[in-house]
Amino acid sequence: MISQKLQDAINEQINGEFYAAHLYLSMAAFCDTRSLGGFAHWLKLQYSEELSHAMKLFDFITDRGGRVALQSIQQPPVEFESVGAVMRMALDHEKMVTAKIDSLYELALDERDYSAHVLLEWFVDEQVEEEKSLTEIIDHLEMVGNDGTGLLLLDARLGARSGSD
Ligand code: FEO
Repeated sequence: MISQKLQDAINEQINGEFYAAHLYLSMAAFCDTRSLGGFAHWLKLQYSEELSHAMKLFDFITDRGGRVALQSIQQPPVEFESVGAVMRMALDHEKMVTAKIDSLYELALDERDYSAHVLLEWFVDEQVEEEKSLTEIIDHLEMVGNDGTGLLLLDARLGARSGSD
């Protein structure tokens, strides 16, 4: 049986994953309005990934005989300065999520909850990927600068992302 303390912390993280999903979806809406369909597509896939992260944690709590307690989801920003600002905000957000996952991992160790430990190892690895892919996009945006052709090429590349990437 999962401890109350760990259950509360995972419930908090479920809320964080749902917030991240909304944040990415709001970012996707912004990119769609800027005619950057490739960026929007990439961000919508991020939205789906965040939902799956929330559900992984949701299922873990119920599988362990715990109780999921959903909380209200904070409203994400609607307006952004530019697509570069979107991606930088996404990276900052992922860094914050990484810190939260690390704290959860530590808590699982303190509580000697080995199955939570195994689950959270997956999230630790996932955060490395999340930060890496956003850093790469930000680097490419910086290389492109004000070159519209470069931006369209990058948009096309992001638009080709498949659901398994
Ligand atoms: Fe749920 Fe983007 O990490």
